[in-house]
Amino acid sequence: MQKQESLFSKKIIHNVQITDPKTIDWDNIGFNPIHTAYVGGMVSLHGEPYEPFTLVPGGTINLPLSAVALNYGQSIFEGLKARKGRDGKIRLFRVKDNARRLADGAKRMLMTPIPQDLFKKAVIDIVNANLEYVPATDKGSLYIRPLLIGSGEGLGVCPSYENTFCIYVCPVGNYFKGLSCINILVTKDYHRAPRKGVGHIKAAGNYAAGLYPGKIAKNKGYAEILYLDHECIHVEEVGAANFLLVKGNKLIIAESESVLPGITRDSVAKIAREKLHMEVTFEKIPIDKALGLHAYKDEGRADEVFCTGTAAVISPIGTLHYHDHDYVIGNNEVGPVTKKLYDLLNGIQIGEYADDYGWTTIC
Ligand code: PLP
Ligand code: COI
Repeated sequence: MQKQESLFSKKIIHNVQITDPKTIDWDNIGFNPIHTAYVGGMVSLHGEPYEPFTLVPGGTINLPLSAVALNYGQSIFEGLKARKGRDGKIRLFRVKDNARRLADGAKRMLMTPIPQDLFKKAVIDIVNANLEYVPATDKGSLYIRPLLIGSGEGLGVCPSYENTFCIYVCPVGNYFKGLSCINILVTKDYHRAPRKGVGHIKAAGNYAAGLYPGKIAKNKGYAEILYLDHECIHVEEVGAANFLLVKGNKLIIAESESVLPGITRDSVAKIAREKLHMEVTFEKIPIDKALGLHAYKDEGRADEVFCTGTAAVISPIGTLHYHDHDYVIGNNEVGPVTKKLYDLLNGIQIGEYADDYGWTTIC
């Protein structure tokens, strides 16, 4: 573990109260900030390679008011989890895929990409520095949040000359309700991201734009919003998760150039195809098809609907509220395919099922 003076360590102000892991209520961790012992990071100046990744005791970051990240949103992030298995081993899930997606985002946002191996090593280092914060198998996960920001100054709109990559971690439980049904509000009033914009990368601004519609949904008692495309015909995705439906032996995954290419949906696709022998397609899903409306009346609505994401895992959707009507899916109960997929995915993540795909990395 590298602990040394670096440009990154000079940015950290040690002004936060680190949470003593002994004081954590492991049965009720939820999805909220907890300050763990160490954060890590590294800086790149003028597109040069990053300095060595450095771990430092947790704190806040010192940024100029004119930082491009703060003024113009040059900021992207990732999300992945470390899971402790009953064998005591701690596993990361598909860390190289997060590295690849962050590098894609960095290119689009004119920031210095992080080489995959460096990203992977940084993630392993940060987990090992915070081992006491990894929840037991059935209590949750250690959520890992890599950030890449334009930390240099810029008054006119310009890319930052300095990029800071940093990682913090946090013990988490469920983002939604685990393997219990959630209710979702389908909106025609807001779009998440334009077609040729940055919906396909984890740009922080995508989530800022979703706060208002998300609040409307929550105020009405829904867990989240489901966005449609710019014509309000096809499903895009839920605020922080991809959308999937099951009809007979088919798993259909909502595809669009403006949704995030989720690593969880990709894993679910593979498991459904290879372990459950389902027909799996990535395609545009008309909302009418999901709900069995109009041209899809004879087909009827989806048997099961769920959303997937690192935070959301596999979250079953029991009701879709659309045009002032609640469309109940599968009697508002967790469907058999959803449950099987959840068990298989979770089993691989905690090392209880064989990892036939080489998805896990032991820290
Ligand atoms: N869509 C959005 C907008 C997200 O924020 C996420 C979460 O990362 C996902 C989909 C799912 O992606 P993944 O499965 O890679 O976590
Ligand atoms: C994740 O699932 O990792 C995400 O990034 C979603 C998040 C906005 C909580």
